[in-house]
Amino acid sequence: MADKRLIPWWRLLWLRFRLYWLAPWLQGIQLGFLLLRHKEMEPLALDYLRTYNTMVHAMDLSTQTREAEGSGLGGPLTYGETPWTTFMKVLEHVPIGPQDVFVDLGCGAGFLCLLVAKVYEIPVLGVDLIPGFITRGQSLAAQHGLFKLEFRCDDFTSTDLSQGTIFYITCTCFPMVLMEQLSRILSRQPSGTWLITVTRPLSGPSFELIKTLTGRYSWGKDEIYLQRVR
Ligand SMILES: C[S@@+](CC[C@H](N)C(=O)[O-])C[C@H]1O[C@@H](n2cnc3c(N)ncnc32)[C@H](O)[C@@H]1O
Repeated sequence: MADKRLIPWWRLLWLRFRLYWLAPWLQGIQLGFLLLRHKEMEPLALDYLRTYNTMVHAMDLSTQTREAEGSGLGGPLTYGETPWTTFMKVLEHVPIGPQDVFVDLGCGAGFLCLLVAKVYEIPVLGVDLIPGFITRGQSLAAQHGLFKLEFRCDDFTSTDLSQGTIFYITCTCFPMVLMEQLSRILSRQPSGTWLITVTRPLSGPSFELIKTLTGRYSWGKDEIYLQRVR
């Protein structure tokens, strides 16, 4: 009997087409929408696109690190990105003030961190295990004078996150055990801390679900959960 978990060939073909042929066009459209709303992002976004061109380059960087470590596809290091337009839509639902500190747990190539640091001018922390993402993010931040933005190469389950007031986590590929660990860690944050997760919420009595949204991601439509620490 055929394994129902296998992705049909036509879906794989469509995915490849989207990634390799459509990606530059989609990137251009995203850039257009970003600049309509945040014109001040132009030099930074263009430098970011000179660094990564399209998401495929970030995926390659992630794949090389995973292969060197022997960890397979589908594990927590699997790469995918939040489209800029989806992220801007999410931010409309979170009241960001000057007292806030934004944290992206598993920041990947770090565009979300760059955007928040530039537009909202608040302290930002991006954490990822892949050194290539972190060094590139650090040089973009330095080039654009984003001194309140820290890119940290570390495991987010063991690094100090106590300053964060708004957390964003694209946890689509995180196994249950990692989600439970994250739920334990984040339940210690002060009351009122915002937790935005993709695909699944954090679990436990410490979290209050404020709302759910649907957004487009590089892997298709997905659920976004906005929770707060009670
Ligand atoms: C799906 S990508 C999300 C990238 C970015 N946040 C976005 O939404 O565009 C998830 C990232 O989490 C990182 N990651 C997974 N487990 C991690 C851990 N324990 N500590 C730090 N980073 C981790 C991976 O390396 C990967 O870059």
